[in-house]
Order: sequence, then C-alpha cells, then structure tokens
Amino acid sequence: MSDGVVVDSIDVAYGDLQVLWDVSLEVSTDDTIVALVGPNGAGKTTLLKAMSGLLRPTAGSIQLFGTYSATLSPSQIVRQGFVHVPEARNLFTEMSVEENLQMGAYTRRDSYEETLAEVYETFPVLEERAEQAAGTLSGGEQQMLAIGRGLMAKPRILALDELSVGLAPQLTQRVFEKVDQLSDDITILLTEQHVNEALGLAERALLLENGRIIATGTGEELLDSAHIRDAYLRA
Ligand SMILES: Nc1ncnc2c1ncn2[C@@H]1O[C@H](COP(=O)(O)OP(=O)(O)OP(=O)(O)O)[C@@H](O)[C@H]1O
Ligand SMILES: [Mg+2]
Repeated sequence: MSDGVVVDSIDVAYGDLQVLWDVSLEVSTDDTIVALVGPNGAGKTTLLKAMSGLLRPTAGSIQLFGTYSATLSPSQIVRQGFVHVPEARNLFTEMSVEENLQMGAYTRRDSYEETLAEVYETFPVLEERAEQAAGTLSGGEQQMLAIGRGLMAKPRILALDELSVGLAPQLTQRVFEKVDQLSDDITILLTEQHVNEALGLAERALLLENGRIIATGTGEELLDSAHIRDAYLRA
C-alpha cells in the first residue's frame, strides 16, 4: 500500500479559488502507465503540482512511499522517487543539453555517469546534441530532453504533464513509443488532452472534470464509455 503515491480526498485552491474537490487516487510502483485525462482547466496540472509538493492541499492528504507529503519539501519528494516533468518543460535554454541533464541529477550525485548513459541510450538524439544549447533543439527534442532530465533523478514514478503539447502527430507518436518503453522499468503517470492516444496506452485511467474525478477504469474501459466517446472522441 505504501509503495507509491496515495492521494486521499484532497481539496486544492489558488487563494480563494478552489480547483480540486475531494480527489483521491493511488499510483503504485506496480502500475505501468496511469493516465489522467480531462479537458482544459479540469485540474490535471494542479493535481500533479500537489503530488510533487508545489501546492499544498487545503484538505485531505498525500502519502509518498509511506511518508505524508506535508512533511516533505519538493526536492525531498523528488528524492523519494516521485518526479514531475512540467507542462512548460522549464529547460535552461541557454545551457547545453548535457548541462540540463546534469541539473536533473541535483538530488542524486551518485551514479551520475551511469544514469546519463542510460538516458542517452533511451534518447540517442540527446547524446548527438549533448553540447547544443537546449533552446535550439526542435520541439520534439526538447520534450525528450525534459523527460531525460526527469529520468536523471532516477524516479520510481515519473509524472509527465501534457507530453504531446506542441508536437506534430508523428513526433507525438514517437514520444509515446518512448514512454511505453520506459514503462517497462518505471511507473508513468501522464496527463493528456489527446484522450484517445493516452487511453490506448494506459493500463489504468482517471477522468478529471471540473476538479473532480468522475470516472476510473482500465484505459480500454474508459475508451469504451459512452461519456468519453460523446465528450472527447467525437471526430
Ligand atoms: N496559479 C494559478 N492561479 C489561479 N488559478 C489557477 C492557477 N493555475 C491554474 N489555475 C486555475 O485552476 C484550474 C485548473 O487548472 P489546471 O492548469 O490544473 O488545468 P489542466 O487540467 O492542467 O488544464 P490544461 O489541459 O489546459 O493544461 C483552471 O481553472 C485554472 O485557470
Ligand atoms: Mg495542464
């Protein structure tokens, strides 16, 4: 039970504006890919920020690997093994690819070279462009760098916010393939507006609307649900 993240009935607000209501979910290290889907403004990013300690719930609790997150700083949460790759990527654009990867390892100076080699193995393009300024990478390469930087912290659970944002369909496909490959070794929690692709990939999924979880199931079950089909998949 404690081997993962347990979110228990949290409310989250920005000042007076409450955006999450009574949200509960569990992500265990036995999970492969868990998808959090929902429309713009549903609260997906807010939920990931709460899980990574950037926002404090006003009610409820979050446990990470058995420790209540209220007692942990964001960098302690990273060290526990929950790593969040933010929607905006937040790369250091003037710094090289390799320097960005180094920043990802700030919580773990041990086994740096080994982890770097693993990231380069997953994303060979990053090794080819190791000395290039991050800001000059293409959109897809920047997304891979953001994921690679997350991997440098050696996550047990890697949360990826809006992987496909700004990417052409072909690149989205490639990034999803990489994520699928990564899920052999670590647990992936991803948010997506491309509901179809995300649910196709996910073992388990949650649908968030207006700050509440309104459906859960396997990716396939959600894909088959009338509500998802009517609201999200009507071509
Ligand atoms: N810093 C903030 N201050 C005030 N309100 C905020 C802030 N960040 C987000 N919100 C509001 O909280 C709600 C949820 O936003 P959030 O970014 O979590 O949605 P999302 O599901 O990630 O949407 P998207 O798919 O567009 O990324 C929105 O109504 C948004 O306007
Ligand atoms: Mg978002």
